[in-house]
Amino acid sequence: MSMSGVLRVSLSGVYRRAGIHDPFLRRGFEACRRATRDTGEIEYATSLLLPPPLRVATWALYGAVRAVDDLADAHGVSPADRARNLEEWITAFDADMRDRHSTDPVRQALLHSALTWNLSTSFLHTLFEELRQDVNGREFATWQEWRCYSSLINTPLVLRTASLLIRAAGLPLEPETLAAGAPDVALAWQTVVDAIYLTDALVDLADDLDRGHVPLPAEALEEDGVRREELLARRPTPAFAHMVHRLTDQARQWFDQAMVPPVLHPAIGTALTTYTDLYRVRLTSAAHDPGALLQRRPALPWQQRQRVLAPARAKAALAWTFFPVSLRPSPAPTAASGTSFRTEAANARQALRKIQEERRPIAEPEPHPSGARPPQLPAEAMPRHVAIIMDGNGRWATERAKPRSDGHRAGADAIIDVVHGALEIGLSHLTVYAFSTENWKRPAEELQALMYEIPACLGRVYKDSRPLDVRVRWAGLPAGLPIEVVEALTEAEKATRDHSALTLTACVNYGGRAEITAAAAQFAQEAAAGTTAPSSLSEQAFSRYLHVPELPDVDLLLRTGGDLRTSNFLPWQAVYAELMVFDTYWPDFDRRDLWKAIERYASRNRRYGSVPRVPHPAPTPDDNDSATAASGTSQEA
Ligand code: IPE
Ligand code: IPE
Ligand code: MG
Repeated sequence: MSMSGVLRVSLSGVYRRAGIHDPFLRRGFEACRRATRDTGEIEYATSLLLPPPLRVATWALYGAVRAVDDLADAHGVSPADRARNLEEWITAFDADMRDRHSTDPVRQALLHSALTWNLSTSFLHTLFEELRQDVNGREFATWQEWRCYSSLINTPLVLRTASLLIRAAGLPLEPETLAAGAPDVALAWQTVVDAIYLTDALVDLADDLDRGHVPLPAEALEEDGVRREELLARRPTPAFAHMVHRLTDQARQWFDQAMVPPVLHPAIGTALTTYTDLYRVRLTSAAHDPGALLQRRPALPWQQRQRVLAPARAKAALAWTFFPVSLRPSPAPTAASGTSFRTEAANARQALRKIQEERRPIAEPEPHPSGARPPQLPAEAMPRHVAIIMDGNGRWATERAKPRSDGHRAGADAIIDVVHGALEIGLSHLTVYAFSTENWKRPAEELQALMYEIPACLGRVYKDSRPLDVRVRWAGLPAGLPIEVVEALTEAEKATRDHSALTLTACVNYGGRAEITAAAAQFAQEAAAGTTAPSSLSEQAFSRYLHVPELPDVDLLLRTGGDLRTSNFLPWQAVYAELMVFDTYWPDFDRRDLWKAIERYASRNRRYGSVPRVPHPAPTPDDNDSATAASGTSQEA
């Protein structure tokens, strides 16, 4: 066989050499090939560096994933229909895998490849689960969410393609096994997968925007001041161009992590390098004209493409010729027979989670010294957002004949305990009122103590070798605050932006009226400049101008120290909050009080102005309608 003959084969030659003779099966592979060619230009070009039997199998994997993915985000199809089509495909897939036969050509091609190469198809279930959630459109708030999604939706396909390539090298191993032995390589590849996903998000932007979908995390937009609505309106602002440049640089850095595992066949090494090189070409062309990304997918520039591909073809052909491998699939190494697809999928998911966690070591919350454990509440009974007016530090200290500053120090300990408790019970948003715009009226000495305690307390939340999974946000204004405090708050926000279990919003130099006034001023400014239409203002649109736009409504507002007022705290966000006041001074409050409050909240009947959906339960001392609803102090303390 001539050197180029290994790779340059006519289409019918490819199928012949791959042993695909059956016309129905060939139809399935052809559909997969076309899907790969049309939607995965780089994947397709790379597949041509592989010999026919491997080549067709990569098409089948890619094409099948494409087919099911297309059902989940089909254009012009209602979410309900998308969900139905997806479920039908999944049910049929399960039946096909059981019967080892499919009447759908694409699934038959997948099944054929899976059986030929002993590839587990359970990886698709990880994907299905994500796609089920995608039918209604999906938005990412944080990079962490975005990466997690990438590792659930993209990594499975990458791993199974890796299985295929490892089999071709004759190794009785799964990439997961290799990854366990070389975590740094695994991490590097996860980063490369993220880079691919980020690159695709940029080049497919126009198509996603068409569907009203923004494929980037909100915080990526936020960082450059790109407004979601501007993006959806395809307005090519300087901020957008800046974001594209920043993100393409980011992806390029992620690609730099790629390393080719030395155990692979040299031609496969060439294919992998070519794959990432082509992605770099794609990034360069995306960065070249950011504005164009809002209109259409940029083509891969032919010349640069050739500059990468021509030598790669020669190299791969040479390697296949001089290091021939008998492409006889080795038996599946793991996959204990009898394990259901779903168990395998659950295992795969767990393995992926582990990879995720290893990227960012996170500490578990420490238990309360008393050994108390959080109550078990159904997810729907949990408040999403608890906000606390931490009052009574001064009185706590005065009662103990101590300076007020001691009260603030003790109050910081209470915050830390409550944060651990919030993590334990699974609360997603906790907001604490640490310093109000009115608190400047206090004596200088006390202000000094407070300005010392705030950064110190923040440090305890996240500055640890294994920090808690807490994302810190700051609501408030910088004016008047010492620079160290502003820096500590912004640094905490930055350092914890990937954390996701609990969002802890610190209200420092916060005033509700100041927040609303600042938001109104910013909106007015944009309206005057003509970048926003005055008529576009809605409650939702307005909330995007608040200090922390993504802060959800407060469900439960607690105040310690016994006073029955809200003291300029979150007037916009807390309009429907359940109120509870504790007589306890803040330094005496701990996570058990938080849990008690959440349990009480769970039994309250929230009507939002409507009529009760369930028959009203017998009145309890904490019933909404009871005269002491807001205070109920003695029972709640
Ligand atoms: C709340 O405790 C903490 C802050 C205002 C920072 P206080 O200092 O208001 O305590 P009391 O209300 O005087 O007891
Ligand atoms: C509310 O407490 C502010 C904070 C907890 C930071 P204050 O003690 O300042 O409130 P008032 O003065 O009692 O309303
Ligand atoms: Mg007070």
